[in-house]
Amino acid sequence: MKILVTGGTGYIGSHTVVELQNKGFEVLIVDNLSNSSAEIVDNIEKITGTRPVLEVFDLVDREKTADFFQRNNDIAGVIHFAAYKAVGESVEKPLMYYRNNLVSLMNILESMRDNNIQNLVFSSSCTVYGQPDELPVSEKAPIKKAESPYGNTKQISEEIIQDTIKASDIHGIALRYFNPIGAHESALIGELPLGVPNNLVPFITQTAIGIRDQLKVFGNDYPTPDGTPIRDYIHVVDLAKAHVIAVDRMIQDKMKKPFEVFNLGTGKGYSVLEVIKAFEKVSGLKLNYKIVGRREGDVIQVWADPSFSNRELGWKAEKGLEEMVASAWKWEQAYRKKLADKQ
Ligand code: UD1
Repeated sequence: MKILVTGGTGYIGSHTVVELQNKGFEVLIVDNLSNSSAEIVDNIEKITGTRPVLEVFDLVDREKTADFFQRNNDIAGVIHFAAYKAVGESVEKPLMYYRNNLVSLMNILESMRDNNIQNLVFSSSCTVYGQPDELPVSEKAPIKKAESPYGNTKQISEEIIQDTIKASDIHGIALRYFNPIGAHESALIGELPLGVPNNLVPFITQTAIGIRDQLKVFGNDYPTPDGTPIRDYIHVVDLAKAHVIAVDRMIQDKMKKPFEVFNLGTGKGYSVLEVIKAFEKVSGLKLNYKIVGRREGDVIQVWADPSFSNRELGWKAEKGLEEMVASAWKWEQAYRKKLADKQ
């Protein structure tokens, strides 16, 4: 069974390729390598013993996308990760975000329709809930106005998919991720640290290894127990496994309706300071951090109600905070060692 993984050399994509191959799926990757590296394919092969096919092109290119799908019209399902994901950058360059994230999706849907490929799993985000009125947040919670062009691309993408489903034979599952962190236990794949990280955990590990001077904790005056914001951190391998289950659900014709939405979180929230403490515990290091002002656009607290996903998908996030942070730290050290050895 052939699965197309767009963005398959990226952070979540690469972990999903590994889990798909572990379950016996044949994987094709399309990636423009704008935020990743072709070497990831070597590392996937080291983990699984199977080399996924990688085609390098930009899915924003309508003709190349159409040509790819015509050549591969036996694909059983598409898992679509390829997108820009930096919130701050999306505020600076909204058109770049809308063009990249929406045009590629439309090209994929058009080619799926034209080649009678019916199954699409889409990378969505808990950002669609904004600051929810009720916690934990279930899939029934209302969508709030997006705080950034990035967040808006996720909302619009879900709408584009739903409208296309109504007018075609395509089926879709949107997976709304909470905060993916950590890396594969082999430390061969993880979050590639290109540029200054925006996200908390890569910033922690880069500070600990000496690439960043100090972690800035964005505000400790929130209405939470220790004053720092709370998120539902989920191990990237747990997240990857949910994609395999989702695509298999579609292939096996087990969907309850043509468009389904699932929250992918653990159901447990941790504050920024709790994440730092977990890191200090597993690494044995003291992290250099400073409390600074709030970051614009940050929600106070959000964590998932994963009960619908647990029940319907038969999936549950298994890894706890310390294991997640330890795997991120192992990856950071392995990656830096590999860079140093190359020089
Ligand atoms: C952010 C996006 C989310 C997106 C995700 C993907 C917002 C509001 N949300 O999630 O839509 O899907 O990234 O990358 O931007 N923190 C610090 N110091 C840092 C970095 C982060 O204190 O240097 C804090 C933040 O204030 C936040 C927590 O750590 O409370 C997690 O931040 P981050 O990892 O950036 O994720 P989100 O902001 O939750």
